[in-house]
Amino acid sequence: MIRPILIHPDPRLKKVAEPVPAVDDAVRALMDDMLETMYDAPGIGLAAPQIGIGRRIIVLDCIRDAEEEPQPVAMANPEIVWASEETHTHEEGCLSIPDIYADVTRPAEVKVRFLNRDGAEEERHMEGIWAVCVQHEIDHLDGKLFIDYLGPMRRQMITTKMKKLKRERAKAAEKPAAE
Ligand code: NI
Repeated sequence: MIRPILIHPDPRLKKVAEPVPAVDDAVRALMDDMLETMYDAPGIGLAAPQIGIGRRIIVLDCIRDAEEEPQPVAMANPEIVWASEETHTHEEGCLSIPDIYADVTRPAEVKVRFLNRDGAEEERHMEGIWAVCVQHEIDHLDGKLFIDYLGPMRRQMITTKMKKLKRERAKAAEKPAAE
């Protein structure tokens, strides 16, 4: 099931999410909904708080070439257990902040420990776009958005823009379709 994605600013995007006690059928169903929602958007990552659920669950698939086999990854309680000293700057975007992109500098490589869809503990070494994406999604679980890495002026401008977008969307939803 495709779930609606929250748009910044929203208090649910600023909250620290709670760990999942275990990966049960309900968590697996949520992971599947999140993957469906992410592919539909389309995006390369999604965190549970973005659909209004305050649980530490993220999904990602950084394969963007339609010719390549998809690589869906679902993680519960992901934790960065190692990060490289070497950093990398990448232009990031976010499904909760549509059409806004900005450079963010983060560790170039990370090792992430998490519970997989089967509930087993797994560790994965990630680099390139996968490292960017997993760090961005884990930030969501701590109520942090990529615009929090920007200066206050730029962040304020983006927030104002998003408020306007939300008003326009709310208005469009009220009105019956003209055609
Ligand atoms: Ni995001």
